[in-house]
Amino acid sequence: MRTVLVANPKGGSGKTTLATNLAAYLANRNEKVALWDLDRQGSSIGWLEMRAEQLPRISSFQPGAKMSETDWLVLDSPAGLHGKNLSRLVKLARMVVVPVQPSLFDMEATKTFMQQILEEKAVRKHHAEIALIGMRVDARTRAAARLEEFLAEFDLPVLTHLRNAQAYVNTSFEGQSLFDLPQGQVRRDLEQWQPLLAWIEKTGQKPRLSRNG
Ligand SMILES: Nc1ncnc2c1ncn2[C@@H]1O[C@H](COP(=O)(O)OP(=O)(O)OP(=O)(O)O)[C@@H](O)[C@H]1O
Ligand SMILES: [Mg+2]
Repeated sequence: MRTVLVANPKGGSGKTTLATNLAAYLANRNEKVALWDLDRQGSSIGWLEMRAEQLPRISSFQPGAKMSETDWLVLDSPAGLHGKNLSRLVKLARMVVVPVQPSLFDMEATKTFMQQILEEKAVRKHHAEIALIGMRVDARTRAAARLEEFLAEFDLPVLTHLRNAQAYVNTSFEGQSLFDLPQGQVRRDLEQWQPLLAWIEKTGQKPRLSRNG
């Protein structure tokens, strides 16, 4: 089972949007996917409950459940994640995806978070690999340029910038994702997802280095 953690302590940075869309992408590829909502707000669980039965299935992860049937586990983490809870989740994950919005406050919060996560043993030993993505980015703005500079400071892959699009908001009302829509409706957004999806699939194929390695 491959585990992807979506994390950024800043509230509203796009974690649930990213986690639900990623889970739905994998489900649309006939993978067995579970989504674990670690947020007491329960946004991902609410989204799953709205998801129609005829759509590719995503199960809701329950701690203690048998996972042998699951190919992918996507973790939607809460705002404010730090300390022991952060360590615990990073230890579980093969991949960590960090969405960052082009705002000073988001970048400041992310900076502190990155300092913490880069200190995690699982990250230092490459048991968990981290990638950054820009979220709600309008490429023509100064803020987008500032975000790009900010993300480039880390020695980590910056996979893509996803634009602000109503499709994310509208699909969420129905328990859907961009990947459940006819491709032509969201072609440009799907193109922006490609580098992220390619990284997830490639990294998911690499064996997790042993804990002693
Ligand atoms: N690329 C996008 N385009 C348009 N709207 C977006 C985009 N990404 C996120 N949103 C919207 O921004 C809001 C916050 O996103 P989301 O709930 O995914 O963030 P979050 O990090 O999970 O928040 P929280 O920290 O509260 O859990 C939501 O209303 C969501 O629909
Ligand atoms: Mg959320």
